[in-house]
Amino acid sequence: MSLRVLSVASEAVPLVKTGGLADVVGALPAALAPHGVELTTLLPGYPAAMKALKRGRVLHSYDDLLGAKARLVAGRLGEQPLILLDAPGLFARDGGPYGDAGGNDWPDNWRRFAALGRAAADLAGGLVPARKFDVLHAHDWQAGLAPAYLRFAPQPGSTPLPSVMTIHNMAFQGFFGREHFPALGLPRAAWSMTGVEYHGGIGFLKAGMEAASLITTVSPTYAKEIRSPEFGMGLEGLIVSRGDRVRGIVNGIDPADWNPASDPHIPATYTASSIARRTANKRALEAEFGLEPGDGPLFIVVSRLTWQKGMDVLVEVLDHLVGIGGRLALLGSGDAAIVAGLTAGAVRHPGRIGLKFGYDEALSHRMQAGGDAILVPSRFEPCGLTQMYGLAYGCVPVVARTGGLADTVIDANLAAVSAGAATGIQFNGVTYPALADAISRAVALHAQPAIWRAMQRAGMKADFSWASSGRAYADLYRELTGTS
Ligand code: ADP
Ligand code: GLC
Repeated sequence: MSLRVLSVASEAVPLVKTGGLADVVGALPAALAPHGVELTTLLPGYPAAMKALKRGRVLHSYDDLLGAKARLVAGRLGEQPLILLDAPGLFARDGGPYGDAGGNDWPDNWRRFAALGRAAADLAGGLVPARKFDVLHAHDWQAGLAPAYLRFAPQPGSTPLPSVMTIHNMAFQGFFGREHFPALGLPRAAWSMTGVEYHGGIGFLKAGMEAASLITTVSPTYAKEIRSPEFGMGLEGLIVSRGDRVRGIVNGIDPADWNPASDPHIPATYTASSIARRTANKRALEAEFGLEPGDGPLFIVVSRLTWQKGMDVLVEVLDHLVGIGGRLALLGSGDAAIVAGLTAGAVRHPGRIGLKFGYDEALSHRMQAGGDAILVPSRFEPCGLTQMYGLAYGCVPVVARTGGLADTVIDANLAAVSAGAATGIQFNGVTYPALADAISRAVALHAQPAIWRAMQRAGMKADFSWASSGRAYADLYRELTGTS
């Protein structure tokens, strides 16, 4: 019999995306289907999501869901079941999923995402008789209260349900003032060290980690790293205390969206045996970014422009990159200081550094298809998707040795190169000398076409599909329901 899982999150492609979380939540249903798991996704009813939902069916109406009128509306996300929490007072706003167009967080985010958690626990607990679930799967802090509601305030008469809390990024914990606790509708018992209380306030992610039957994160290396203060960011003790209830399952990439042989966004499609066709994409990319055309290495960056992503160090290294013959095309948005530093670099190096600020999905595909190497100098990276897109597209990743970057890229050391196994370049520590050295290595390898081509091919042939990770999640659900 197939297992029924309710997956709750704050974003999913193609409805709403600010980062990799959306790619993963959007891909999971199709990844799990071959393993006998029917995954229903629950998302907030943002305007774009409500608009995309065709012929939604109202499953339940709330008069007062944490003070808001709300409805649960069912539809489909591609082939898979979707439920939206339609609560105009909470979600019908212009701007992003977490804040206004100016980047300021909505002041009632605690209420918006507590409502999401409450609705998830209600659904999982059998609120709608026609929709039964075997497991609740919560993603990131926005869904963190779902396992807590399930544990401390379940639907009356419901049988206890196992839950999974997946951490996509420990840096975002959803911490709010204790004055909101009464409005959450949780019993007093939930205000404790093993409940939602965290340093005198409410910790959404912490609450989910305490209450869930199992915790997962998105790569084996990050699962180890978060046991230390540097990566655990205050929650390392909780991770350590949960012992073998913490697992690392690396993300896959969705071949329906990311396949250079059939990508509708790129000028010239290609495969591992027709890599030379990439040249047309490179020329188009140079033109699009106002770069001098040339055969020398073209680096790309597609990233949030933040400290996590090491973008401040990228700013420092621009002169070196250009000085040794590289060019850079960058797409991103984020911190003003980083934008200013990059802009100054582009002014110093016209024709060698091209920048686009903003968010552009189609352009991100054209960059992976035309760039020679993608730079990912993250200080921490739970999994990272852009390096995997790079591998699939023959855009060789140059990555910091951390988290999922360490797990998915094979460094071009002598042994790996001579075995034909190398797929990219790794470096230790996000500092100017380490990144500058990694870029120099990339330039030197790019000057040896046979080696470079072998690296591109090895990356393109590696398997980053969801096949094995889909199975790993299915095994986890079966372990929790005792059906393995
Ligand atoms: P994170 O979720 O931490 O930002 P990931 O590498 O997991 O990092 O995922 C980032 C996702 O967002 C990728 O799909 C990447 O292509 C995309 N992305 C990031 N910045 C941009 C941008 N400015 N324009 C288009 N896509 C972007
Ligand atoms: C987070 C992480 C990123 C990961 C993504 C999807 O945004 O920062 O490393 O790839 O979630 O799991």
